Amino acid sequence: RVFSSRDRKTLASTAMSRENAVIRDRESLERKTAAIRSAGASKLQVIADFDGTLTKYSINGRRGQTSHGLLQQGNTEYDEKRQALYDYYHPLEYSPTIPIEEKTKLMEEWWEKTHGLLIEGGLTFDAIKKSVADATISFRDGLVELFEYLEEKDVPVLIFSAGLADIIEEVFRQKLHRSFKNVKVVSNRMVFDNNGRLISFKGKTIHVLNKNEHALDMAAPVHDKLGDPNGSVDDYTMVKNRTNVLLLGDHIGDLGMSDGLNYDNRISVGFLNDNIEKSIESYKEAFDVVYLNDASMWGVVDLVSQLC
Ligand code: TMP
Repeated sequence: RVFSSRDRKTLASTAMSRENAVIRDRESLERKTAAIRSAGASKLQVIADFDGTLTKYSINGRRGQTSHGLLQQGNTEYDEKRQALYDYYHPLEYSPTIPIEEKTKLMEEWWEKTHGLLIEGGLTFDAIKKSVADATISFRDGLVELFEYLEEKDVPVLIFSAGLADIIEEVFRQKLHRSFKNVKVVSNRMVFDNNGRLISFKGKTIHVLNKNEHALDMAAPVHDKLGDPNGSVDDYTMVKNRTNVLLLGDHIGDLGMSDGLNYDNRISVGFLNDNIEKSIESYKEAFDVVYLNDASMWGVVDLVSQLC
């Protein structure tokens, strides 16, 4: 599907009126929108979380899976071992009483053990392809049009995730059958041997807590070590020079993704997927725009068309 920018605008404004965006301070949003627009597309970048932000929270009444959650190693013993780790550590991730330093150590422990099990259990790239094909995962409607618009305007999109880069990229391949030259995934990246078997992970582990503290600092070494012909230190400099940010997340902690950046203006969009009544007030305080009820990306397409 190819949409003209007029089509996109019509679709986006229709979606806007259907899906109510909650905006606490409309004046402030308008001020930031005007400032970003007047600085131009060359100053803008988009920083997005993956799970539950770019992907739907619920699909046909079932919870959408995450990049970790969808992975079946094809080795039941190791799938069960990773599940046991999840059952132990996931409640700790959300515990309000564990001090942050302690929780950071626990999360490092969890990620290291999980990565270790993936290597020990002999994960193959074929198992990743099959897992993605069998997964309950899909992108929010309007995501392709959002990325196409940003690609046309040469605005980079950094996807930060504490999940698994190789899986996220496979989801893009299988679900969208295309890639975008402006989109980079900064996440845990695997190294496979010649037989397609996982042997190690590249660079520093990104887990839920350091993702929110140093994600941007990690963008450079991750690209560097990738040997990605499209990724370089220049990329990083470019990202540092783009001082206007549109940030997309589904947890308040995602706001930390722009911490490494000395930005001039930031518009933050939060997708509130769960516990709406309990969380709406804090999300309204934290994000400039909040979308409820697993909304599409059309509202964001509309917003971006006002920014560049
Ligand atoms: P993120 O997608 O917001 O960056 O966070 C990654 C999520 O992955 C986090 O909520 C914990 C989860 N996770 C698993 O489901 N299984 C695992 O083995 C690990 C290490 C994390």
